[in-house]
Order: sequence, then C-alpha cells, then structure tokens
Amino acid sequence: NRQTPTDRLRRPIRDLRISVTDRCNFRCSYCMPKEIFGDDFAFMPKSELLTFEEIERLTRLFASIGVKKIRLTGGEPLLRKGMPDLVSRIMRVEGVEDVGLTTNGVLLGSHAQALRKAGLRRLNVSLDALDSELFGRLNGRGIDSALILKQIDRALETGFDVKVNMVVQKGVNESEILPMAAYFKQRGVTLRFIEFMDVGNDNGWSFKKVVTKKEIYERLRDVHELEAVEPDYFGEVASRYRYQGTDAEVGFITSVSESFCSSCTRARLSSNGIFYTCLFASQGFDLRALLRGGASDEEILAAIIGVWEARADRYSDERTEQTARNRKKINMSYIGG
Ligand code: GTP
Ligand code: 5AD
Ligand code: SF4
Ligand code: SF4
Repeated sequence: NRQTPTDRLRRPIRDLRISVTDRCNFRCSYCMPKEIFGDDFAFMPKSELLTFEEIERLTRLFASIGVKKIRLTGGEPLLRKGMPDLVSRIMRVEGVEDVGLTTNGVLLGSHAQALRKAGLRRLNVSLDALDSELFGRLNGRGIDSALILKQIDRALETGFDVKVNMVVQKGVNESEILPMAAYFKQRGVTLRFIEFMDVGNDNGWSFKKVVTKKEIYERLRDVHELEAVEPDYFGEVASRYRYQGTDAEVGFITSVSESFCSSCTRARLSSNGIFYTCLFASQGFDLRALLRGGASDEEILAAIIGVWEARADRYSDERTEQTARNRKKINMSYIGG
C-alpha cells in the first residue's frame, strides 16, 4: 500500500462517507424541506447511481491510500435495494476496518438481520423526538416515534451497536432533550445531540436556531452526573460523557460551537460518484466520469490524491451568518451528512 496523502492543512484521508441514494422516505425540514422536495422533485435516475461494482472499486482504491472507516448514508440508504450485498463487498475490502450505516430506521425491521449477517455491526439511527405528534411533524411524513423505537430495540436484539442522533433546534424540540436522555440512558444506548447546521441552501438556518452543546450539557447536568470519556480515535466527531456509575454514554456533535475541522479526515462520495472534500463544499470531482470513461486504477488514484492534496476546507471554522446565507452548498440529502 502507498503512502496516505495529506491535504494543505496536513490532514490525512481516513474516512469515506458513501451516499447510496439521494431519496428519502422522510421530509425533515432541516434536510429535505417539503416545499423543495415535493412530488415533482427530480431525484437521480438509477442509471446515474454508482453500481455496487463501482462503489466497491472506489472503496478499494480509497482504502489503498489509507481510508479505514466507511459510513454508508443517503438520503435514506435502506431505500437502495441490496444493501446487505454492498455491505459484504465493502467489508471484504483490504484495509477497511470499520463500516457503519446511518439511517432513519423506518426500514430496519425488514433489513436488520440480513445486514447483520453481511457483517455490519454499527448503526446510527436519527430520531429527533420521543413525542409522537412532534416527531410526526418533524419527519414530515407523520411517522410515529414508537415505530422507530421498536426498530431500535430489534436492532439491539439482532446484536447491533446502536447510537441515536438527535438534531436539536431552538424552540422546536428542546423540550425533548431530557426525555430522550432519560430514555436512552436507561437502555444503555448512546444518544448524540447534534447542533443544528446550515447544510444545503434552504434549511432556514441561523445562529439563533442553534442550541449549543453548552446549553444542552447544563440541562443534563442538572439531572445527571456526567464524566468526560476519552475519544475512541483521533478526529472522532462526537465528544462523549458517561453517566456516572453506569456504562451509558451521551455525546455532542458541536459543528457550530466547537468546530472540529482541524482534525477532519473525511471524504464524501455522492450517490452519482462525485467526490467532495467537505460537507459544505459547493463543488466536487466527478469520479464516475473516470470510472465510466475506462480509466485505470492508477489514473483514478492519481485523481483522488490530487484532489485530497489540494484540499483546504474548514467551513465550520469559518461559518458566519453571511456564509450560511450566501455560500452555495450541496444538499444534505445528496451527500448524507
Ligand atoms: P461515527 O462516529 O462513526 O458513529 O459516525 P458519525 O457520527 O461521524 O456519523 P453520522 O452519520 O451519525 O453523523 C452524525 C452527525 O455528524 C451528522 O449531523 C453529520 O452531518 C455530522 N458530521 C459527520 N461528519 C461531519 C463533518 O465532517 N463535518 C461536519 N460539520 N459534520 C459532520
Ligand atoms: N444539522 C445537523 N444535523 C443534520 N442532519 C441532517 N441535517 C442536519 C442539519 N441541518 C443529521 C441527520 C442524521 C445525520 C446523517 O445528519 O439527523 O442523523
Ligand atoms: Fe431523510 Fe435523514 Fe434527511 Fe431526514 S435527515 S430527510 S431522514 S436523509
Ligand atoms: Fe470537515 Fe468540512 Fe465538516 Fe470542517 S465543515 S469538519 S472540513 S466536513
């Protein structure tokens, strides 16, 4: 294997987030607002999506230069047919040490067992509220939180390591912070509070709508004794705490109040094969064109290395109300977070 390229801020490439579809069965307002992602929205036709063979080949190339962690995302990744097959292909790639999948959980019931059999161990499930009425509104499709909770239980029974992601928005689901914490503490499932970010171009973000880690932490501390936990690996996005006297943990993803760009080793691949070096990028590099144009492994690798070595992204370090409003960014559902 060759040397791992580093970017202009000396960050190596270590993780690859692969989006397998731009579709989703939810319409969370902060990601796929209904007004934009309506009935006539043009999602990608199947021919545009990378095939599993293409994804596997790119994974192999990325792994050969040092990528060790793969995360499968969407849209909603379980809407893509045959995910267990993709998981087992990726798990077999030399150098890949860790594979995870981020899902809204609706379709887990029908897929959990096959995914586990294929070798997947880690699931991150998004859930923004326990209250059914509120959750139904937040997901834009009236889906009941009870369904997601049931799927999480099933996934735990199937042997998955499950974490829950909650995006907190001021005045929207703040009231769910303590109930969610209590519920998942009791189950020993790590809940991660995510600061609301200005992803995409139309999610109505402003600093005023962010509930910071500090605010959430203080509320939790009123009720629970917390102790800091060392990161599992360099550049882990969540900072974690343990509820004293238990094994249960809680985490914070502080993209707004304490950005973590300086240790960001993440590359992203959209479902149509565009390679991005930041969640907030406005442009990417078309790897699919190379794949389908008959490029050799060497040629594709040279392109990947070139893009990574030119990388200087640190959007969350630079974020202002101005950049949030005016910078053109890719859509969250297209790049998978
Ligand atoms: P593990 O730690 O491996 O479990 O996964 P993860 O937390 O990196 O992935 P997940 O898909 O669960 O993402 C959780 C949240 O972190 C989402 O809101 C992502 O958008 C956000 N996130 C992940 N990576 C980055 C990043 O590089 N930059 C920013 N700003 N946010 C990120
Ligand atoms: N801010 C923060 N997190 C977001 N996610 C989606 N949109 C946003 C946003 N605007 C989260 C989802 C999911 C993960 C992949 O990204 O809730 O858990
Ligand atoms: Fe779908 Fe996840 Fe976006 Fe919600 S945040 S619309 S579940 S992709
Ligand atoms: Fe990495 Fe961009 Fe997120 Fe910063 S904003 S952590 S550079 S993906």
